[in-house]
Amino acid sequence: MSRTETTLGRTALGVSRLGLGLAAIGRPAYINLGRAHDLPAARTPAALYRRTVELLDAARAAGIRYLDVARSYGRAEEFLARWLAERGVSPGTLTVGSKWGYRYTADWALDAPVHEQKELSRARFAQQLGESRTHLGPHLALYQIHSATAESGCLEDASLLTALVAARRAGAYRAVGLTLSGPTSARALALARTARVDGEQVFDVVQATFNCLEPSLATALAEAHAAGFGVIAKEVFANGRLTDANARPEDASLVRSLRAAAAAHGCTVDQLALAFVLSHPFVDVALSGAVTTAQLASHTSVVALALDDDTRARLAALAEAPALYWETRARLPWS
Ligand SMILES: NC(=O)c1ccc[n+]([C@@H]2O[C@H](COP(=O)([O-])OP(=O)(O)OC[C@H]3O[C@@H](n4cnc5c(N)ncnc54)[C@H](OP(=O)(O)O)[C@@H]3O)[C@@H](O)[C@H]2O)c1
Repeated sequence: MSRTETTLGRTALGVSRLGLGLAAIGRPAYINLGRAHDLPAARTPAALYRRTVELLDAARAAGIRYLDVARSYGRAEEFLARWLAERGVSPGTLTVGSKWGYRYTADWALDAPVHEQKELSRARFAQQLGESRTHLGPHLALYQIHSATAESGCLEDASLLTALVAARRAGAYRAVGLTLSGPTSARALALARTARVDGEQVFDVVQATFNCLEPSLATALAEAHAAGFGVIAKEVFANGRLTDANARPEDASLVRSLRAAAAAHGCTVDQLALAFVLSHPFVDVALSGAVTTAQLASHTSVVALALDDDTRARLAALAEAPALYWETRARLPWS
């Protein structure tokens, strides 16, 4: 197992420390900052599929072994399944994770009033597992509740938890996961860690927002990892705010600080942001949400970049109050 490879916690699922998520490329609209600049001019299904193929081919060539999709990412599952078939990738060669809970409602419209609708129920799980299996079949290794919150009640829903475990026992997938979202994520993780069905632990993997602007889950994730949970870091670039392309006036001083720290390290702002996340041993996989092969190449060149304690401290000092971070994210426009 090379330095850039590991397993997802206690699961035997082999992964690379850098993974690729398709949230920004599986559908025409999303919240990341520079889409007008970085996506194909015409965001037709054919054009986004071509871009997805370029990204997946480059990811595989760079040794990326974890791929992350969701039912709500438009046609991301379909695009991934088609690429896996066209490249003749046999199940288990790459580790594929998907998510259920949100339904894509935009019908490929850029200006849809609502892009996704959430329901964390047993019925939604059963329906979407069928859809995900239809696309991904035996490639589906990890199935995650999408943005599980304590308030939703799903983490204490005995009939749902029973169904999640039953499907794992039946081989529909190999690991059960949850993704977290919002300033109350630590509470949801604590509930997930204690969830049991007939004494059997329900959850194997947690996916959480973790970056130098929102590092507040570090302790909870480290404890979960020490207890055998797989840990996947998402929104490593804070949806584009932790990149040189961030032109938000409100972030001007942030970007100045990041550029100074990156220059001192001889790297770019996005590389520094990724190196910060990878410098935490409890992170099994950091997700790249790249939408261009140039962005992906910038990310894959980071895996070996070590940060000294001074730089880590400078980056940690940039942290925002979680409430402010999530308010800012909630205001990012779909474009
Ligand atoms: N609730 C959940 O479960 C959840 C939520 C969010 C994400 N995720 C997962 O995490 C993955 C990544 O998250 P994300 O895409 O939301 O956010 P992210 O990784 O923080 O941001 C990725 C975006 O940053 C910009 N970027 C990155 N490198 C760049 C560079 N070198 N130069 C310029 N811009 C650069 C690109 O946006 P532009 O090109 O548009 O500027 C890119 O799409 C997703 O694909 C998904 O798999 C899960």
